[in-house]
Amino acid sequence: MKKIITIIGARPQIIKAAAISRAIIENFSKKVVEIVVHTGQHYDAKMSGDFFEELNICKPHHQFLISNHLQGAQTGEMMRGIELVVINERPDAILVYGDTNSTLAGALVAAKLNIPLIHVEAGLRSFNKSMPEEINRITTDHCSTILFSPTLEGIKNLMTEGIIHNVRNHKVYHCGDIMYDNSLYFERIAREKSDVLSRFELIKGEFNLVTFHRPNNTDNKNNLKSIIEALKSIKKQEGKEVVLPLHPRTEKMIIKFFGIKYLEQLKAEWKVLPPVSFLDIILLETSANKVITDSGGVQKEAYFFNKKSVILRDETEWVEIINNNGGILAGANGDKIIAAYHDLDNLDCTFEKVFGNGQAADFICEKILNII
Ligand code: UD1
Ligand code: UDP
Repeated sequence: MKKIITIIGARPQIIKAAAISRAIIENFSKKVVEIVVHTGQHYDAKMSGDFFEELNICKPHHQFLISNHLQGAQTGEMMRGIELVVINERPDAILVYGDTNSTLAGALVAAKLNIPLIHVEAGLRSFNKSMPEEINRITTDHCSTILFSPTLEGIKNLMTEGIIHNVRNHKVYHCGDIMYDNSLYFERIAREKSDVLSRFELIKGEFNLVTFHRPNNTDNKNNLKSIIEALKSIKKQEGKEVVLPLHPRTEKMIIKFFGIKYLEQLKAEWKVLPPVSFLDIILLETSANKVITDSGGVQKEAYFFNKKSVILRDETEWVEIINNNGGILAGANGDKIIAAYHDLDNLDCTFEKVFGNGQAADFICEKILNII
């Protein structure tokens, strides 16, 4: 029996982990045991704990509390905790997802203890090193032994950096996107179980779904203001409701820059929701008129569900969405956001299936078990 330690910490990683955990339980439980370590990066119930029950993931075997939110200190605290667990558990491999500080912490511990590192979502690049995620991704890929890229573009990026299948111990696979697996799997369940539309009195097609939390959009007062003003204009022009499940970082920064009263006003004008569950966001994504987001996960899910999106970024790692006319990059510029929102109507997009076949998790488990 092989043992893998999976590192999670931020909301998207908990959701991603559901796909592999499900594959292990259904198809590989006789060959591998998964030990889940939660770094504590996200800690509110609605950003973390609630997902375990909803997505039927087993509770973390090890859970840390993070006391510091500075980039370096946060990563260091996680590393200290992960290192002790790894020394005690002696896994055959460590698995990390995506590009957060939790990913980086797991990758560095694996590299320093010389334990094979598996990176799921390898090879993605924004080519913008001012994003903490870009540094995390590059470092993680270069520490990894087994790399799973969701896209061909990712494989190309890895090759450019000299990370090539069967060269210097690297195993590199194009596997499709585990979030496509999850979206297909949970969409059926969401349609049955989520009451988010009636709970918030929403009419299908009559609202735009908005999510944003990137530091460039929230921690810069001008950018934050410009995004909010653009959303107000769009609502004024078209009358569609703004539905904004609010990330804690965004909430904190709105209050910091503009005060609690301003947030209360927004809540009176729009449907400002607490972070919603995965089943709820799926139903919001499938029922929205359009999606406006800076989230990596939400821009892709919009595409999976044939929704066009305005991407509140100057660049994206998911270039397939842009290349296939599924979205428009608008950054934080108000005029561009408004123009992009309207221009979406003229985009001819067939939502070509470029994110795999919904079986990425099984493929990943098989490859891992053949190697470790
Ligand atoms: C992190 C990831 C980002 C990912 C996002 C997913 C890094 C560098 N960033 O960004 O890539 O897209 O998660 O959502 O790893 N907070 C709470 N409650 C929580 C979690 C956070 O109040 O449960 C607040 C805290 O004030 C914290 C702030 O949000 O300081 C930011 O949290 P943090 O995890 O540092 O970064 P995110 O912006 O969430
Ligand atoms: N998500 C969610 N509830 C929300 C907002 C997002 O369940 O209120 C899900 C979303 O569907 C996606 C993931 O969280 O699967 C994306 O996380 P986030 O936007 O926080 O991070 P990113 O993908 O940008 O790293």
